[in-house]
This record gives sequence, structure tokens and C-alpha cells, in this order.
Amino acid sequence: MSIQQQQKKLNIGLFGFGVVGEGLYKVLEQTPTLNAQIKKVCIKHPEKKRNAPQELFTTDPAALLQDESINVIVELIDDADAAYHIVSTALKNRKAVVSANKKLIAEHIEELIALQQQFKTPFLYESAACASIPVIRNLEEYYDNDLLHGISGIVNGSTNYILTKVFEEKISFEEALLQAQYEGFAESNPALDVEGTDAVNKLTILLAHAYGIMAQPQALVHSGIQHLHAADAVFAREKGYEIKLVAQARKLDDGKIAAFVLPQFVQKDSQLFNVRNEYNGVVIESRLADKQFFYGKGAGSFPTASAVLSDLSALRYDYKYEYKKLLYQQPGQLTNDLFLRVYISFDALFHVPHEKFERIEEWSSSDKRCHVTGIIRFARLLDTSWWKRKNTSLIVYPDAFVDKIPEKRKVEEDVFSLV
Ligand code: HSE
Repeated sequence: MSIQQQQKKLNIGLFGFGVVGEGLYKVLEQTPTLNAQIKKVCIKHPEKKRNAPQELFTTDPAALLQDESINVIVELIDDADAAYHIVSTALKNRKAVVSANKKLIAEHIEELIALQQQFKTPFLYESAACASIPVIRNLEEYYDNDLLHGISGIVNGSTNYILTKVFEEKISFEEALLQAQYEGFAESNPALDVEGTDAVNKLTILLAHAYGIMAQPQALVHSGIQHLHAADAVFAREKGYEIKLVAQARKLDDGKIAAFVLPQFVQKDSQLFNVRNEYNGVVIESRLADKQFFYGKGAGSFPTASAVLSDLSALRYDYKYEYKKLLYQQPGQLTNDLFLRVYISFDALFHVPHEKFERIEEWSSSDKRCHVTGIIRFARLLDTSWWKRKNTSLIVYPDAFVDKIPEKRKVEEDVFSLV
């Protein structure tokens, strides 16, 4: 007697035929063993030339969402509001959904989980965080909340690409961004990459699967690379650091979770040090296993399509996220009650808000740029008006988390009372 089970046939309705959609189409054509076929593709611009048969395309979403022979909707458009409508309607119509839409998922995660439960329909989105790296499924399945000490990662390919090109290859920021757009790494609104919105959306998704935390992305402290200054790169080089945009979540001594996305100085001994260009890297720290490192392409057509493909493959076996940390364990709790060691650079010493620091440890000033290194109360970053502005850049130190604040030294107060 054969123990082999019948795999599900996937009849796919695809929304979007951009960089990723077309990549998926090509890959599916070359992977007949997957038993998956794209039945219809819904697009917004029928006038554009497409590398696929004309009869595959429609501009009518209902032609996919109401077609009973379609059992899977793959949503790969970049309009998060339209995507919300597509995904929620598909789930209500009991069609399994695969999406790569980080913004949609991060902003509606609680509601999307409720819909999955109500309609008993799977919704998978491995490609939404770190594209080709299977980090969501690993956090969901492998790491127990109690053992998970922290996650820190480069989760946005475009900003990492820009940092590599600007600081290592010395091309201009604008040119590097154009290249990231040309390569298909950047969002159609690249401000989402550059200002850290895309990274914080991904962090929100990781928090849900790592700790069962339902966060509002915009409420998490985050910034991008928009205010980094050439002088910051000089400082980093002198100290042997790389500057990376790092998303992190860390369990503190009281069991609560600190989470943020900020530029960070990364030391040579960190696994993130050598993550370059559009690659992403995620270090997961657990109590027993210590550090584990996930590395791979975090943006681009085929790396993203590869994760979508893996989700499709998982659907054939009825895989679904169980949201174990949220539904079966005590979900983690976010906190802003912590101290961080940061570097902040300014264009003039009189712009230094020294009163924001608990302790100033180092400072320097020239007629072009000055910087201060010190310890701040993390909650002070909730007010972004003083640090997230033109001509001010904030970068977190490698071992940023500070347990105890030493007393202020007299000399620091003296120096800044002169300013
Ligand atoms: N714009 C995103 C990035 C695409 O650069 O990482 C992949 O999510």
C-alpha cells in the first residue's frame, strides 16, 4: 500500500505583474512539479507590454476573487490599500492567500489574523520579511518565546545597497538610490526604504511571529538612512565600524521587549558586518543555542519570488501560521523603559541638546560637524522632533543596551554649560 498522499492542485489568481509577479510567472513555468498554475493575472495598466500570453490578463479583480476554480490568490501589488481589499475579500471567499505586501501586513496584522481564524483559510507571507530568507517560518516554528533573547537584522535591501555603494564605492546617495530602483530593489515610493518605514513594517511582522506582539509600526521608534552624514562614515571608519540600518528586538531583564529600527555601528565580529548590497542578514539569539545567523538576498525579483514559491509549496500541504506565541503563550510586552548608548552628530555645537543625555561620554567639534556619544533614555526618542531632522544623525552603538547609568561626571556638565 502506498503511503503517498495526494498534493493539492493550486489554481492561482495573481494580482500584479511587476518585478516579483513576472519573476513568479517565469519560475512557475519552469517548475511543473509544483502542480500550480496561474489561471488569471489582474493588472492595473493593460496598455503595458507583458511577457506572457494576452489572454492571461484582466483588469477586473472580481474575475479572480469570484472565480470558484481559483483556490489561491497571490497578491503582489504595491498599493497597500488595494491589497487590503484583495486579501480580505479573498480570505472571506475562503481562498488561500500569499502576499509580499509588508505594509499591508504590518498595518493590519491583528485583523488579518482574525480573518484567517474566522474563515479557516491560510495566509502566508514569507517574502514580506527579508525576501529569500525563511525567517518568519523559523521564528514561528522553531524558536520558543521563552528562549528567544533577541533578533537583530538588516531587513531592507535597498538601504543596505545604498550604504554599501555610498560608503564603500563612493558613489553619491542619489546615484545609489537610482541603481537600487533600476535593479528592482526599492519600493515604488523609495522614501519607504530610505526613511526606515519598510524596515519597521518588517520588524512588526517579526515581532508577531517571534513574541506574539501586535505592534503598530508607526508607533515603534524608527529611522532610516536619510540623515546620515559623510562625517559619520569617517567616524565609523576610524573606529573600525560599518554603519548598517538595523531592526532589532531584545528581551530585557524584566522579560519585556525593546524594539526599534535605527542606524547602528556594527563591529567586525558581528555577523552583520559583511552583509553588503541588497543582502539581508538576521542574527537570532536564543538562550541555549546562542547566536544563529540567517543570510540571503533581501530584495529583487527572483529572491522574492523564491519565498512566494515556498509559500505556494507549503499551501499544498495545508500549512498555515498558527501564531503560537500570540494564541498559545503569553504574548510579549513592548517597553520603552531602557537606556541606549548612541552617537549623535550635528552641524553645530549649539544644536546639541545635551539635556537629553543621561551621560555624555565623548564629544568632538569642528567648524563643519560635531558629535556626541552618550547614554539616553530610550523613551526620549519617542519625541522625534529633536533627533529626526535634517543635519542631525543618530546612530546606535554596537552594544547599545546599557543596564545602569553611572553618575554624571562634573567635567561633562562644565563643558556643556559653556555651549
Ligand atoms: N524595498 C524592499 C527592500 C524590497 O529594499 O528590502 C524587499 O522587501
